[in-house]
Amino acid sequence: MKLTVMLLALVVQVFSLENGLMRTPPMGWLAWERYRCNTDCEEDPDNCISERLFMDMADRLVEDGWRDLGYNYINIDDCWMMFERDEHGVLVADPERFPHGIKYLADYVHARGLKLGIYEDIGNKTCMGYPGTMLDKVALDAQTFANWSVDMLKLDGCYSSAEDRAQGYPDMAKALNATGRPIAYSCSWPAYDGGLPPEVNYTLLMDICNLWRNYDDIEDSWQSVLSIVDWFTKHQDVLQSVAGPGHWNDPDMLLIGNYGLSFEQAKAQMALWTIFAAPLFMSTDLRTISAQNVDILQNKLMIKINQDPLGVQGRRVLQTKDKIEVFVRPLSQKANAIVFFSRRTDMPYRYKTTLRSLNFTDSLLYEAQDVYTGNIISGLVADTKFTVVVNPSGVVMWYLYPISALENPLARKKFLSL
Ligand code: GLA
Repeated sequence: MKLTVMLLALVVQVFSLENGLMRTPPMGWLAWERYRCNTDCEEDPDNCISERLFMDMADRLVEDGWRDLGYNYINIDDCWMMFERDEHGVLVADPERFPHGIKYLADYVHARGLKLGIYEDIGNKTCMGYPGTMLDKVALDAQTFANWSVDMLKLDGCYSSAEDRAQGYPDMAKALNATGRPIAYSCSWPAYDGGLPPEVNYTLLMDICNLWRNYDDIEDSWQSVLSIVDWFTKHQDVLQSVAGPGHWNDPDMLLIGNYGLSFEQAKAQMALWTIFAAPLFMSTDLRTISAQNVDILQNKLMIKINQDPLGVQGRRVLQTKDKIEVFVRPLSQKANAIVFFSRRTDMPYRYKTTLRSLNFTDSLLYEAQDVYTGNIISGLVADTKFTVVVNPSGVVMWYLYPISALENPLARKKFLSL
């Protein structure tokens, strides 16, 4: 009997990452999609992967209001290192491009109320060929990042075997915990194992990672956004159930501000990522971004929805033969976010529906606020017929809340206060 109890205790004592971080999806800026592995600081000093780029973006995050809206991570991706470790096996930042080292950069961003993220890979090499962590360097690299006061690690999976990943990702979670420094942990593990059970063990990931990339890299095109949306939607039953406070699915960076998306498509990506309770990592030039794109990314109601404390991922609830799709994300205080999304390529489409058709079968009185225009749509009950006009490859997004529970105008004002 005693033995059984002891054995059971051993079995149930699964390690978990207890950093208490990312109770809502993380927000910030990540270098990769826009700046890739541009290491040519001689020819392209403004855009190469260097401390200057990260300091410039940190300054923008603070001075242009991003940080105060929640965009507080500034994250390095691949190509920050030297091609060799030092004589003690420690990773070294490229001294030409990061002349003051990573600790200096961390201090710089911390002084501005931001957090610093870094990138490594559990395989022999990073995707761009820099030294990987491999299994024997997990503890050393975790300690190095902690010594540098880093706040987040994206651990990629290039040049690794399924066995390396099964060992290495949990090992790194333990090693990060053992440093005593809270370091958020982004695992690319599922993306390298097809993103689905049984190859991917989401129960384990929820325990050891704060977020994970499930699927392919985003590229600067609408087609790329659609392929990610399609995959996330196709597998929404699996994915919805594994997201929650402290552990998020990551459909990859926001393209907004770059070259591949129209204004409508940029609004659609932001709305859909918010429905997915996705991390909001911008990857664009914040020094030159247009006011229109800033408006999308700094939409306060959008951010409030993305950061909803319930942390429930939304899902597609219907698809019409006219190529309109409706996504719903349940929020706290009985509110919901609804996205009407058009896959059409002709003209603005007048989509007529009722809340009942979108599975709202209760007898509450609702009001909605259009997230992009700010317009209020009042007097909605389950059977009220309404029309939304959805532009080609665009969205209409509603923040829908029950009004019958909020008759007092003061309570209502507070409820909507941003
Ligand atoms: C992989 C990742 C990307 C990026 C690159 C860097 O492709 O999925 O997000 O980190 O590696 O080389």
